[in-house]
Amino acid sequence: MTVKKALIPAAGLGTRFLPATKSMPKEMLPIIDTPVIQYVVEEAIASGIEDIIIITGRGKRAIEDYFDDSPELEMHLAKKHNTELLKLVRDVSSLVDIHYIRQKEPNGLGDAVLRAENHIGNEPFAVLLGDDIIVNDKPCTAQLIDNFQKYGRSTLAVEEVPYEKLSSYGIIKGKPLNDSLYVLEDIVEKPSPENAPSNIGAIGRYVFTPEIFDCIKEAGTGVGDEIQLTDGIRLLNNTQTIYACRFEGKRFDTGDRLGYVKSIIDFALKNESLREDVLEYLRDILVTVDDPSDK
Ligand code: G1P
Repeated sequence: MTVKKALIPAAGLGTRFLPATKSMPKEMLPIIDTPVIQYVVEEAIASGIEDIIIITGRGKRAIEDYFDDSPELEMHLAKKHNTELLKLVRDVSSLVDIHYIRQKEPNGLGDAVLRAENHIGNEPFAVLLGDDIIVNDKPCTAQLIDNFQKYGRSTLAVEEVPYEKLSSYGIIKGKPLNDSLYVLEDIVEKPSPENAPSNIGAIGRYVFTPEIFDCIKEAGTGVGDEIQLTDGIRLLNNTQTIYACRFEGKRFDTGDRLGYVKSIIDFALKNESLREDVLEYLRDILVTVDDPSDK
């Protein structure tokens, strides 16, 4: 059995990016000219996903508009014979079949996942959190799907997390199977660094068997008075083996302010038409930043 449906929770308030996110979804923050959520959708498609459900909330209309047709803009570009931009705009709205479900109030990641239960039904599905962009020839989600196809079991993407960031992640305890795979023994949501079971954290990519839904419901409210996906994973682990996969690829945590700045610099340096100018600018400012006479 393969994985054809994916869920992208995008209902969070984006408080780390206030005031910008007061009137704009954090998922629409651009990495130069492309909103973060487009990279996430593209990763899902490149991993073989055919049906995407985005969980939105109040103030997230811009996401739906973004992936929809844009007749006025298209007409304007067509009139100006700007075929290149016209193609760009049309390509976005014809990417894939996207469905939207609204989460009435932000009540945790677990609750956002539950909103999609009816749409997903009794089949495995992927979850891609909108904050992470992961760059690799073989997409991270495709790596998790491979593992799912091998073992038929839920699989989480994990990576090492710096000590001071442990309390921002679900941290796992795992039994290594090989260089890149653990059998999950436990997972704790946002532990204090002293109490963390390891330094390996779940990042925003998962593949689940549908039994996760009942486990989230059974787990109820957790840390921060929210329904936590991690608590559901913990319960699922009592009845089904779960794997944690050290994925291949470079992850950009665009939900973090520094991570966001880093991703813009990296993507600019990867962009042929920007690279040389950006490098020159960086060299210039690095000289002045290092020069004490400039202070
Ligand atoms: C969520 C999950 C957490 C996971 C993290 C990855 O937390 O609850 O287990 O490690 O995503 O980004 P959030 O970042 O939504 O607070």
